[in-house]
Amino acid sequence: MWQESRSEKSWQKKKSQDWDKRAAGFAERNLNSPFAEQFLAALQPESTWSVLDVGSGPGTLALPLARRVQRVTALDYSPAMLAELRNQAGAAGLDNITAIQASWLDDWDELAIGRHDIAIASRSLSVDDLAGALAKLDRSADQGVYIVDRVGAGPFDPDLFLAIGRDFDPGPDYIFTLNILYTMQINARVDFITLDHNRCYHSREEALKSYRWMVDNLTPAEDEKLIAYVDARLTKIDDNTWRLNRRIPPKWALIQWRK
Ligand SMILES: C[S@@+](CC[C@H](N)C(=O)[O-])C[C@H]1O[C@@H](n2cnc3c(N)ncnc32)[C@H](O)[C@@H]1O
Repeated sequence: MWQESRSEKSWQKKKSQDWDKRAAGFAERNLNSPFAEQFLAALQPESTWSVLDVGSGPGTLALPLARRVQRVTALDYSPAMLAELRNQAGAAGLDNITAIQASWLDDWDELAIGRHDIAIASRSLSVDDLAGALAKLDRSADQGVYIVDRVGAGPFDPDLFLAIGRDFDPGPDYIFTLNILYTMQINARVDFITLDHNRCYHSREEALKSYRWMVDNLTPAEDEKLIAYVDARLTKIDDNTWRLNRRIPPKWALIQWRK
């Protein structure tokens, strides 16, 4: 069912090169985001922890975690994402992050990834063999595993797709992951991270960018409708602050289990 639902989703499956192209924009939108703040508040990191962050991206979680735990291993198959992470870590003077270019499918033993206290996969379980990936994550952690998965449309705004006249199927969400874990005799706990209906941006262009990434192969005619949609929800607070309101806020499931 997971694979069937994945094949029906509107958002194209991404290869590492696709993530490379998105790396700079993703970093801009996600580093220092309210999502990272809420995740860390739920995680309550301990200073002695070693953490494996699979599909780390530009370091959305790896960077703030490195400030609070002993060491972080950030694994991602996109070199551009890891370059963003290394730049940010260097600028912040963080020397306790090991960035490794690898995929969910690689042999982590061969790469000497090793065991960590905590294993994390945030918004990165884009794999056909979900049970295999979950088992691998479970084997890598001595104390606990934390997964972030979409709830329904997750970060996508369904109203945007209505506005530009496109059907939208976000694909399988956290409930598949939870049920697959159940079949693996892992009874996980689920909490939810719901972001605010409003988010502030420094400019109108930044607000537009926060929507453009949602649509694969946006046509010029669709972009016009997207601009009208965003403009209708944007309020200028002052020269440096624009507030964007959406009816359905981004929502994530935080799935966790202790070992
Ligand atoms: C949506 S981003 C999430 C980044 C970060 N964890 C966060 O929550 O902001 C997904 C990341 O997973 C990585 N990724 C996707 N499929 C992967 C795979 N099969 N192996 C390794 N990394 C993968 C992508 O390169 C990308 O950096």
